[in-house]
Amino acid sequence: MPASAAAIEEAAEALRRGELVVIPTETVYGLACDAPNPEALRRTFAAKGRPADHPLIAHVQSVEQARSLARDWPPCADVLSRRFWPGPLTVVVPRGAGAPTELVGGLDTVAIRSPNHSVALAIIKALGRPVAAPSANPYMSVSPTRVEHLEPGIVAAAALVVDAGPCERGVESTVIDCAQEPPALLRPGAVTRSEIEEVLGVVLADPPTGAAGPGRQARHYAPRTRLILVDALGPDDAGLTFDAPANALQVRLPREPRQCERDLYDALHRLDALGLESAKVALPPDAPEWETVHNRLRKAATL
Ligand code: TXA
Ligand code: MG
Repeated sequence: MPASAAAIEEAAEALRRGELVVIPTETVYGLACDAPNPEALRRTFAAKGRPADHPLIAHVQSVEQARSLARDWPPCADVLSRRFWPGPLTVVVPRGAGAPTELVGGLDTVAIRSPNHSVALAIIKALGRPVAAPSANPYMSVSPTRVEHLEPGIVAAAALVVDAGPCERGVESTVIDCAQEPPALLRPGAVTRSEIEEVLGVVLADPPTGAAGPGRQARHYAPRTRLILVDALGPDDAGLTFDAPANALQVRLPREPRQCERDLYDALHRLDALGLESAKVALPPDAPEWETVHNRLRKAATL
């Protein structure tokens, strides 16, 4: 259903009944459910084929609603939410009684963000409760940034798909652990490490080494085609390139980091649609502004 006042109302009704709805956000499309409803949360994990100990992000329309899920609201969460919400920044904070154990995968923390998308915000508002929304893709595969990317299994599991066109940012939110001191960067994303460090006035920690941790598996965001990371593509290679495509099996990525993030998953979906066994991917420069693209390409290329 194209995004409209009627679609927003229908989405909120379906969520209230405990059903799943694919919603647009500024990062990627999400598979939404009513966050306080344990049965709806279990359905979400089942639809994605995602292990129950891999927690979801609660999406809220205000800091007040976020705080209803948290046991306390550390200064880090306060500063980041004021600066970046609504926007592609997720804070991990101590879990409060309002966050069901299914949502947090049994952890004593909860991940929360407020999406910068008028349709997503309107749906949360119409429901009147936080919405849990993992990316609307099967576990480990590439996130959808257009409804055309949705897998049939995900569409079948949803009562409704709300289509608002291509996502503006194209990569997932940055996840910051505010429950530890100093805060840690758990997942690079649409907000850069340096923007966050500047606002907090601290150097972000890395996640504890060796710890598995939710969402930290080496392989993720992966297409079916096996990816091989290279410095540049040759004229006969298939894959992703920053140069003018030399053949019909090459997909071009923008040379500017934010534009590349916006187009990256669409390029991976297009590459996958070629049905190749393997393809090469040209790595961007090894520079801080490319951290998120590097992260996603490395995970996509991990066997
Ligand atoms: O941009 C986004 O964040 C998108 C859109 C739909 O909002 N959502 C998204 O959700 O990417 P998902 O479920 O695909 O990824 C959630 C990430 C995972 O890496 C998960 O492990 C981490 O957030 N996460 C959730 N709760 C956590 C917690 N309590 N502690 C640490 N990491 C957590
Ligand atoms: Mg995901």
